Amino acid sequence: MTALPRLHLFELADQPWFPRTLADAGTAYLATLQEKAGLGAVVAPLVERGLALSGATRIVDLCSGGGGPLLAAREHLAAPVPVVLTDLQPNVWADRTGPGITVHPEPVDATAVPAELAGLRTVFNALHHFRPEGARAVLRDAQEAGQPILVVELSERGLLPLTVGTLFIPLVVLFVMPLVRPVRPLWLVLTWLLPVLPLTIAWDGWVSHWRTYGPEDLDALVAPLAREGWVWEHGRDPAGPGHVTWLLGRPEVTPRSSGA
Ligand SMILES: C[S@@+](CC[C@H](N)C(=O)[O-])C[C@H]1O[C@@H](n2cnc3c(N)ncnc32)[C@H](O)[C@@H]1O
Repeated sequence: MTALPRLHLFELADQPWFPRTLADAGTAYLATLQEKAGLGAVVAPLVERGLALSGATRIVDLCSGGGGPLLAAREHLAAPVPVVLTDLQPNVWADRTGPGITVHPEPVDATAVPAELAGLRTVFNALHHFRPEGARAVLRDAQEAGQPILVVELSERGLLPLTVGTLFIPLVVLFVMPLVRPVRPLWLVLTWLLPVLPLTIAWDGWVSHWRTYGPEDLDALVAPLAREGWVWEHGRDPAGPGHVTWLLGRPEVTPRSSGA
């Protein structure tokens, strides 16, 4: 599946000149799509396992965007776990309220997470935003802080996602954008009257597939981070018509408590 080379093409949402409202529309769409597609149930066992193996009592979600699949996943966990949502550029529009959910008000760089944000770090659909050195810095920061980290990617560097999968994105955006809450009339105009969002989201989706780290890339990322007392493991599980690729890093010995 990862025979294609990894290409770090540019994503519009990463560009400083790209309007913030379009970037926020993209992550709000992504969160809604994942919720409606039932991805919460798919990633919940990974989160559950990360919590159980690390002993963490809180989830610190990095690169949260519109909340990703985490809020839906939370409903499938055996016990309620507090969640802190963080991002370098927090999405101010997405609806991410609920009991036990905190939106961190300050920007948080996933490569330098403040010490007070202890807990299981989760990174959904975002490791591919970093070039290899940056991606390794995200992993190293967690390791040096002694905090477990779970990375999950739903995009894939495969022919099917890069062709048929991408062609469907504009159509999916047309139907998912009206489901985003709260409703933003501008986003609906930029979807149905002037189809800017279907095109920008499709481009970023296509580029995301090219940038995704497959299992071999993950091996290369963590190889220099191998150290005694720390476990890196990864896998690729079926999820609907595609796969979910995950990486879990954690201290070998379950700590008494890791989190608030
Ligand atoms: C594709 S979105 C993923 C959003 C969400 N996790 C999901 O699954 O829908 C990538 C997110 O990474 C964030 N991001 C990019 N670089 C970052 C960094 N250095 N530190 C923290 N967040 C970053 C962006 O602001 C964006 O919200």
